Amino acid sequence: MQAAIRDRYGSLDVVRLEDVDRPVPADGEVLVRVHAASINRADLDGFGPRPGFARLFMGVRAPREHRIGLDAAGVVEAVGSGVTRFRVGDQVFADLFSFRSGAFAEYVCASERAFETIPEGMTFEEAATLPHSAILAVQALRLRNGRTINPGDRVLIDGASGNVGPFAVQIAKTLGAEVTGVCSPAKVDFVRSLGVDHVIDYTQVDYTKTGERYDWIVDTDSHHSILRVRRALRPDGVYVTLGGTSLPIFGALIIGPLVSLASKKWTGLLLWWKPFNSDDVNTLKALIAAGKLVARIDRRFPLDEVVEALRYVDDGHALGKVVISVPG
Ligand SMILES: NC(=O)c1ccc[n+]([C@@H]2O[C@H](COP(=O)([O-])OP(=O)(O)OC[C@H]3O[C@@H](n4cnc5c(N)ncnc54)[C@H](OP(=O)(O)O)[C@@H]3O)[C@@H](O)[C@H]2O)c1
Repeated sequence: MQAAIRDRYGSLDVVRLEDVDRPVPADGEVLVRVHAASINRADLDGFGPRPGFARLFMGVRAPREHRIGLDAAGVVEAVGSGVTRFRVGDQVFADLFSFRSGAFAEYVCASERAFETIPEGMTFEEAATLPHSAILAVQALRLRNGRTINPGDRVLIDGASGNVGPFAVQIAKTLGAEVTGVCSPAKVDFVRSLGVDHVIDYTQVDYTKTGERYDWIVDTDSHHSILRVRRALRPDGVYVTLGGTSLPIFGALIIGPLVSLASKKWTGLLLWWKPFNSDDVNTLKALIAAGKLVARIDRRFPLDEVVEALRYVDDGHALGKVVISVPG
C-alpha cells in the first residue's frame, strides 16, 4: 500500500510517498481502507517540531513515528480477533493522535478503540474533517469543570479561518452566543460566511485594545500575552488558548492560571483535551445531522499530492479544511 512517510525533522520536503506492507490487524485491531483524510495544524507542527520542546515527546534527534496524518475516514477491511465493536464493511472515522498517526495512507490499522462509526448520510470527506479539529472546538468551549458558554454571551474566536475556528464559530452560534471572528484580511468574507456577528481583521485591529469585553475567547494560535488578553475579558470571562509557539504556551501554562487566582477571570492553556472523546463525537454527529454544523472544505488533493496539500495549508491559503482523497 502507499503511505506518506517522514523519518527526520525539517521542511515539508522530508515527506515522501512509499510502498509499504499492508498491516495485518492484531488482536483487538481493525484494518481500515482510508477513503479520506484531512490536514490539521498538528500535522504541520510535527515537522518542526513546534513548539520546540515537543521533541522531548516525539523524539529528540528525529521523529520516532514515521507515519503522518491524524484524521482518517474509511471502511473496515479486516478485523483482528477479539474485536467486538466493528465488522468488515462498517464505515468509520478516527483521530489517530493516540494511535501512532498514519492517516495519509491507503490503509490504517489501529485498536478498535480509535474508531467511531460514521453516521448514515455523512460523507467520508465530511467525516475526515471532524476528528481532531471539531473535537478541539467543542472542548475549547467548555472548561474542565464543565462550565461552558450561555446564550447571549459575547464569544471571540481568534483564528476563525483555520481548522478549529470555523467549527468553534458554528458551535458557539448554536449555543446562542454573539460571535466575533478574528482572521487575516483575505479571509474576512469566508469568516463572515460562517455566520459570525462581527469580523476583526487582525492586521487592522488588535482586539485586546478596542475596549470591547468578551465572556469567552478561544485562541487557536496565541499571538498575545496573557496579560493583554485579560483586558479583553469581562470580569468573569474565560480565555482558552489551544497552542502557539513555546513562549505564549508557557505564558498560558504558568502565568495564566496564576493570575486567574487573583480574579474571577480564567485564562490558560487547554489541558483537558480528550482526543476523539465519544460523547463529544456524538455531539458533533447530532449537530451535523441537525444541519447546525457544516464541515467547510476548501480543497481536495489526491494522496499522491500530499506534500502539495500540506504546503497549501502551511502557506496559509486554506479556508477551513483541506482533504486528502484516497482513490479506491
Ligand atoms: N491544547 C491541546 O491539547 C491541543 C491539542 C491538539 C492541538 N492543539 C493546537 O490547537 C491548534 C489548532 O489550531 P488550528 O488547527 O485551527 O490552526 P490553523 O488552522 O493553523 O489556524 C490558525 C489560525 O491562526 C490565525 N493567525 C495566524 N496569524 C495570526 C495573528 N497574527 N493573529 C491572529 N490570528 C492569526 C490564522 O488566521 P489567518 O489564516 O486568517 O491568518 C489561522 O486561522 C494548534 O495550535 C494545535 O497545536 C492543541
